Amino acid sequence: MKEHFFVTGAMGCIGAWVVRDLVQDGAEVTAFDLATDTHRLKLIMSEEELGRVNFIKGDITDTAAVEEAVQPATHIIHLAALQVPFCKANPVLGARVNVVGTVNVFEAAKKAGLKNVVYASSIAVFGGSEEYEDGPLPDHAALNPRTHYGVYKQANEGTARIYWQDDEIGSIGLRPYTVYGPGRDQGMTSAPTKAMLAAAAGQGFHIPFGGRCAYQYTDDTARIFIDAARADIKGAEVANLRGVAAHMSEIVAAIEAVEPNIAGKITFSDNPLPFPEEADDSNLVVLIGEPHYTDLQRGVDQTVEMFKVALADGRVNVEVLQS
Ligand SMILES: NC(=O)c1ccc[n+]([C@@H]2O[C@H](COP(=O)([O-])OP(=O)(O)OC[C@H]3O[C@@H](n4cnc5c(N)ncnc54)[C@H](O)[C@@H]3O)[C@@H](O)[C@H]2O)c1
Repeated sequence: MKEHFFVTGAMGCIGAWVVRDLVQDGAEVTAFDLATDTHRLKLIMSEEELGRVNFIKGDITDTAAVEEAVQPATHIIHLAALQVPFCKANPVLGARVNVVGTVNVFEAAKKAGLKNVVYASSIAVFGGSEEYEDGPLPDHAALNPRTHYGVYKQANEGTARIYWQDDEIGSIGLRPYTVYGPGRDQGMTSAPTKAMLAAAAGQGFHIPFGGRCAYQYTDDTARIFIDAARADIKGAEVANLRGVAAHMSEIVAAIEAVEPNIAGKITFSDNPLPFPEEADDSNLVVLIGEPHYTDLQRGVDQTVEMFKVALADGRVNVEVLQS
C-alpha cells in the first residue's frame, strides 16, 4: 500500500519541512492546518512539489473534522500546536489546541484503525537545568514543566500512554529543543533563526535569551519525525532529540563567520531558557537508529544562504523580525 501521511500543523516550521521531505520521498501527504498561508512551504518547495500536496484547512480542536481528514492516511505526524508565548497569552485556547487537539488525533487514529501516532512533545516537559545532575538529560528524567505549554505537552505524553494501555495505539512523542533554520519564525526559541535572517538582510538583532542549549536543524528534525512515523512502534515511547549543544556566543560566532559585516551587531541577553542545557537521545537511537544532526556552522551557513535568496525574490521579509 502506498504511504499516505496525515500531517497536522503542516503550515508550521517543522510541518513545512516534513511535507517537503515526504513529497520528495514520493509519499502522499494530507496537510492539515487551520492556517492557509503557505509562506514557509514556499521557502523550501517548488510549485510543482506544492501541487502534489492535499491541503485541508481544518481546526485540530474539531473532532469530526480531524476524524474525516485522517481517513486515507497510513501514517500520522501530529505537529499542530500553539507555542509557549501563545499558550501564556491564552491558556484556555492553548489547552484546547494542544491538549484536546492531541486527544482528537489519537481518537481519529483509533477510529481509522491506525496503529501508530507520532506527535511533537517538547523539551519544555522538563524543568530548568539546575534541577538535574550535570550532563545530558536522560529521557526518563523527572518532568517538571514551568510553562502552560510544557504542562500541555506533559498531558500529551499521558494521553499517548493511555491510548497504548487501552487501545494498543503505539506512539512516539518527540521532544525537540531549539529548532532553527528556514521557516522558524515564531515561538520563544525562534530568535536565533531571526538573528540569521537579520544577518542575511545586513541588519543587527537582539536575541532575548542566552546560555547553553541544544539546536536542531529544521530538516534533521523533520527527518526524525518521518523516520519515527515509519517505525514499528510497540508502546507509548517518548524520546529526546539531541542536536548540537552550543552557547549563544557560539551561535553568534557562527552567524558572524558567514556574515563578517554583521560582527558586533547580533547581541543576546544572559537569561538562560527554563530548560536543561542538553538532552540525551538514547531512546531515539533505539527507536529509529542514529539520527543525522547537521553541523552547527553548516546549518547556519545554509540558513543564511537560503534567507538571502528568499529576501531577494520576496518570499521572506524583515517584518517578521518585529514579531
Ligand atoms: N520549533 C521548536 O523549536 C519546537 C520545540 C519543541 C517542540 N515543538 C513542537 O513541534 C510542533 C511544531 O512546531 P513548529 O515550530 O513547526 O510550530 P509552528 O508554530 O511553526 O507551527 C504550528 C502549526 O500549528 C498550526 N495550528 C495552530 N492551531 C491550530 C489549530 N487549532 N488547528 C490546526 N492547526 C493549528 C499553526 O497554524 C501552525 O502552522 C509543535 O507541536 C511544537 O510545540 C517545536
